[in-house]
Amino acid sequence: NPVRVLICGGGNAAHVMAGLAATRQGVEVRVLTIFADEADKWTEAMKLRGFNVIIKGHRGQPDIDLQANPFTVSKYPEEVVPGCDLVVFAVPAYGHAQYLNAMKPFLKPGSLLVALPGSSGFEFEVNDVLKDVAKSISVMTFDTLPWAARLKEYGHSVEVLGIKKVIHGALHGNCETVFPHDRNAVETLQYLVGEVPVLDVSGHILGITLLSPNAYVHPTMMYAEWANWDGQPVSRAPLLYHGVTDSSIKEMTQVHEEVEGLAKRIMELRPNVDLSKVKGLFPYILEIYEDHILDKSNLKTAFLSNTAYEGLRFPMVATEDGKLSPDFNNRYLSEDIPYGLVVIRGIAEIVGVDTPHIDKVLLWSQEKLGKEFLIDGHIAGKHVPESRSPQAYGMTTLDEILWM
Ligand code: NAI
Repeated sequence: NPVRVLICGGGNAAHVMAGLAATRQGVEVRVLTIFADEADKWTEAMKLRGFNVIIKGHRGQPDIDLQANPFTVSKYPEEVVPGCDLVVFAVPAYGHAQYLNAMKPFLKPGSLLVALPGSSGFEFEVNDVLKDVAKSISVMTFDTLPWAARLKEYGHSVEVLGIKKVIHGALHGNCETVFPHDRNAVETLQYLVGEVPVLDVSGHILGITLLSPNAYVHPTMMYAEWANWDGQPVSRAPLLYHGVTDSSIKEMTQVHEEVEGLAKRIMELRPNVDLSKVKGLFPYILEIYEDHILDKSNLKTAFLSNTAYEGLRFPMVATEDGKLSPDFNNRYLSEDIPYGLVVIRGIAEIVGVDTPHIDKVLLWSQEKLGKEFLIDGHIAGKHVPESRSPQAYGMTTLDEILWM
């Protein structure tokens, strides 16, 4: 029997995941994209011209053009969800709940939901939306997307600009009944994405909620760059990672140390919970981008010399006089706060760990977003329900957070 794989989403990541999976033998690929007319557009383009994933060559290597076998794309969950063994969420975090709600009536017991990437609190949202159904499914979540990817022609071709060396994940649940044969769940997913990145799946699923780097790197970079901005538009967007300074590195390190401290505290309280994936930011960045970092002396040089970060600048919006102002509604805040830093801060509150640096970044970020999550030292602001913090789901104890 083929493994039946459902990919959720209709953007860059969904194109790559579907295309790669559809080059493998013994795999039936289906895509669910519920947004606008994407399913029709994708189906039409694929019917006319087929579907290709182009892996861009590096250092003079030629591009590799992979042709996918035909697959079904639909906007109707009842057409594509029934019978699927593995469901991959390849959409931004704000889309997760819509897909979970859409597929809930059709999910096969024992099936595996994979979030690629998850963003903090994915497992809380699964539990909240699926309720009793969540007990019969397994969840695997990852810290980041395996690829840097960009659509070339909608529904027909997508380019993979870079591939990470390793990505980190964790699995909750027991999905052996669905993967009884030669490949277990992780091996099946590895087979679908190919040899790289290596899918390093271990530890408690909360480890990925805490590890997800966008949660603290993006808001802290925004804070470090713009908290003391004089409000005057600028003529050019500042460099993002290639513009780090001693001060922004210090801010990032302080915030990251609080996340590490939180993971350590949870492991002290629950020695059987493995959150050891949450390690220092420097070793983490080195591991993921090993081949791209030219100067591995320290965290700052690792950012400044990472070729994968070339050309990346802060998100900006144009002003009337033809200049640029920082875009505070960009996903670095609009997604990485509610599906990132607020989640971590909410966990810290329940565990009883103080996070003064996280609080500083969060208070500034929420003000820029016009939202209230942290208020008087608690995750109790009026926009908490828009976040994936434990507080948004009424969780008050560590055991609830740990899904125990
Ligand atoms: P994308 O920007 O291509 O996703 C857009 C897709 O999301 C749309 O095609 C649509 O299917 C869906 N969507 C958009 N608005 C929606 C709405 N209002 N309701 C429901 N669905 C809607 O995202 P991409 O590039 O595929 O990234 C997926 C995730 O991977 C994101 O979290 C992103 O931050 C992350 N990521 C992406 C990288 C890349 O190179 N593309 C690199 C690293 C991480």
